[in-house]
Amino acid sequence: MLSAEDNEILTRVGPGTIMGNLLRRYWTPALLANEVPTPGGDPVRVRLLGEDLVAFRDLNGRVGLIQENCPHRGTSLYFGRNEGTAHAPLVAGEGLCGLRCPYHGWQFDVDGNCIDMPSEPPTSTFKDRVRAKAYPVHESGGLIWTYLGAPDTMTPFRDFGTDSLPPEYVSAGKTFSPCNWVQAMEGNLDSAHISWLHQFNAIDDIPDDGSDKPGYLSVDMSWKIWRHDRAPRLEVHDTWYGYRYAGIRTTPGGHTHVRITGFCVPYMTAVASIPFRSRLSMFVPIDDENTWRINAVAQPPRNPNGYGGGHELFDVTNYPYEARKFTGIRGRRWTAENEYEMDRDVQRNETFTGIPDFNSQDLMATESMGPIYDRSQEHLGTTDRAVIRMRRILLDAAKRLAENGATPPALAGVEGHDFRTFRSAEKILEPGEDWRILGTDDDPTVQEAMLATGEQT
Ligand code: FES
Ligand SMILES: [Fe+2]
Repeated sequence: MLSAEDNEILTRVGPGTIMGNLLRRYWTPALLANEVPTPGGDPVRVRLLGEDLVAFRDLNGRVGLIQENCPHRGTSLYFGRNEGTAHAPLVAGEGLCGLRCPYHGWQFDVDGNCIDMPSEPPTSTFKDRVRAKAYPVHESGGLIWTYLGAPDTMTPFRDFGTDSLPPEYVSAGKTFSPCNWVQAMEGNLDSAHISWLHQFNAIDDIPDDGSDKPGYLSVDMSWKIWRHDRAPRLEVHDTWYGYRYAGIRTTPGGHTHVRITGFCVPYMTAVASIPFRSRLSMFVPIDDENTWRINAVAQPPRNPNGYGGGHELFDVTNYPYEARKFTGIRGRRWTAENEYEMDRDVQRNETFTGIPDFNSQDLMATESMGPIYDRSQEHLGTTDRAVIRMRRILLDAAKRLAENGATPPALAGVEGHDFRTFRSAEKILEPGEDWRILGTDDDPTVQEAMLATGEQT
């Protein structure tokens, strides 16, 4: 459990809060690039860490992320016109352009400069003294990232591999979830729940395909192991970016199976996958009570012809579950309002929850805690070790930053680390094999995959 005070610190993210100040030290995924696909296209609202912003791609193709309310008298610039200036008509690729307020026509460029103030006399220089708050952006991997902190604390963009991702591999999607970002993220750092929340009886009908032995198992066998050992042991191993933890299970054949998930401060996770995965699952606060769950491909699939090439962990097509790789904003069919279309007969007879959609099972679990769960009421067990460690890392970092300005963990440029090494893993261990190696640059399977794609480790 946490004290009520620590729970407040952990969960509140608005400007000036202790955790909000920490989160603002990291480049933050603000929206999907395909929400503003076209130069001169429609602006979109962006609410991020409790701040109301508007994003637009100007006629020159540059993306702006500026305060939503017009600096004049506050009309929402979401209703504005994305256009060139009347006084300096735009020549393609050059010239002034930006978002013009619909109320009195003041116009702001992507940097927040007021570039036109047609309601004032032509001789006025007032526009030179008016600015909209604007945040820097970096487009990478189908996401538009921003830095919400003070300019003098800005660190280089943390590249998890997206900067060099070939266009054919770019895939980024997001799902809205009305609950606090930490409790949403805790679902990804909780290996035990897959042995319960996502269970269904038909797993027993999956034939044993012989992969229950040391080495890489099939996805179907993974399901069977989750079902077989429903009280995994958790081990947490701290790393320079946060930690990796293993959920350790005994297989039906008596072997040791590990699912290794990574946590990178502040809200990146890499969920266990066979043999390893670098796809990012991120939990970005909209505000204290709402979260974007963002998934993005960070690197090309490794070793396309070998282990794991394009093979999704939850691709169990013969069973009543689905977990697709989404691009774009995933609509919510299953919500608290319709009780996630839970079917009590199905729950009694077929699946553990009766909720028909895999992701919605996770959403039910974390949303039904309430917008911000009061962690002073919880009772943590042995399977909560990774959750506990994540909270401790975040709380310590936020408090140290507040108290003495200590450099937050996992910031690029500070230690010269390569964020492309942030990976998960899953395997049945050989006798004596150390799970901490799996998925790292020291893992022979990783090295083989890197060679297959022509990369150096
Ligand atoms: S409120 Fe925007 S120009 Fe007046
Ligand atoms: Fe889950």
